[in-house]
Amino acid sequence: MRTKLLFLLLACSLTFPVKAQGYQPTEANLKARQEFRDKKFGIFLHWGLYAMLATGEWTMTNKDLNYKEYAKLAGGFYPSKFDAARWVAAIKASGAKYITFTSRHHEGFSMFDTKYSDYNIVDATPFKRDVLKELADECHKQGIGLHLYYSHIDWYREDAVWGRTGRGTGRPYPEGNWDSYYAFMNHQLTELLTNYGPIGAIWFDGMWDQDQNPDFDWELDKQYALIHQLQPSCLIGNNHHLVPFSGEDIQIFERDLPGENKAGLSGQDISSLPLETCQTMNGMWGYKITDQNYKSAKELIQYLVGAAVKDANLLMNIGPQPDGELPEVAVQRLAEMGEWMKVYGETIYGTRGGCVAPHSWGGTTQKGNKLYVHILDLKDKALFLPLIGQKVMKASYFVDGTPVKYQKNQEGYTLLLREVPVDIDTVIELELD
Ligand code: GLC
Repeated sequence: MRTKLLFLLLACSLTFPVKAQGYQPTEANLKARQEFRDKKFGIFLHWGLYAMLATGEWTMTNKDLNYKEYAKLAGGFYPSKFDAARWVAAIKASGAKYITFTSRHHEGFSMFDTKYSDYNIVDATPFKRDVLKELADECHKQGIGLHLYYSHIDWYREDAVWGRTGRGTGRPYPEGNWDSYYAFMNHQLTELLTNYGPIGAIWFDGMWDQDQNPDFDWELDKQYALIHQLQPSCLIGNNHHLVPFSGEDIQIFERDLPGENKAGLSGQDISSLPLETCQTMNGMWGYKITDQNYKSAKELIQYLVGAAVKDANLLMNIGPQPDGELPEVAVQRLAEMGEWMKVYGETIYGTRGGCVAPHSWGGTTQKGNKLYVHILDLKDKALFLPLIGQKVMKASYFVDGTPVKYQKNQEGYTLLLREVPVDIDTVIELELD
């Protein structure tokens, strides 16, 4: 009887692989989540064949380009100026602590050496170099984290099941072949997590492609389990614009800070997982030749601070050029952000959203008994902080240590500043009891 029961249990566990509902992150994973939170700032890189068309990463579907014609771009892709060491150095100079690279975007072209499709940068281009390998080696050498974007959508493969996008690319089978496509993705994920050293996170995108078909089963549980089995501390995030599913380790927001929904893609509830919001430096993810509308260093820094006071990381995007260089303006912005981070990094890295919630004037970050008040926009010399149940021992300008006067009343503290703040971010450091 007992053996029969045991057998039955075993059989069940074999047919129904452990559901992610029961997902228990490992110690290593929990540690990685805290380290991720501490890093606060990453750079997103959207690079693929679409860089050559220079109109963003959605051109293939937006222009209904035939998949066989589109694939011919590969034969001319020779990013002669690509130099991973220079990319990583420019990004490190910004103070960013990780890079998230598009290993394969919706266009379906693999920017790494894969055995599971010839449609990749080594086999299909005259360049023949595994840019991901070069980038990974350089990231490890220069000491910066590497995360990988991976699309669930593929507008090129015939076995990829059609969703609401990529319908005009001439692929013959709308129903695709899920088993074959799913196996392909898992093979590739295995390569990505085996051949490129430690990967900080896998960043999925594209699940929303089946939003008109809500019963579609992406079999995420098994895919997530595979990732965690290959690298337990690799964090999983999915840009599905929903509250995180079991098995995910971080929550992603797109083009909006947590709790906001100006771009129409966010507004989902905020979970207790580490948060990350991605934003473009100009207006597009992939390289767009006509978009020189880069945000100013002030806007970018304030966005980073805005994320930090909401306890979120910022993943700021750059679309590298077809010649393999990062756009010059982007490199300049990286340097400007880095200058600021050199001075103010202590008030950002390793902090958590502070005990005074964000307001229209800015917000707070906190580390131990230090509360950093980030004043981004205040037309006054007095700033009231609803700090109840906390005792301020000392207040000073972070930048030069000059004391700041303050008054206490029943509702909190009022900081009396020496002038109306004009800096990108006037940081007041409070020492709490
Ligand atoms: C969207 C877009 C995609 C981009 C991503 C980045 O999901 O489909 O092109 O990579 O956002 O957040």
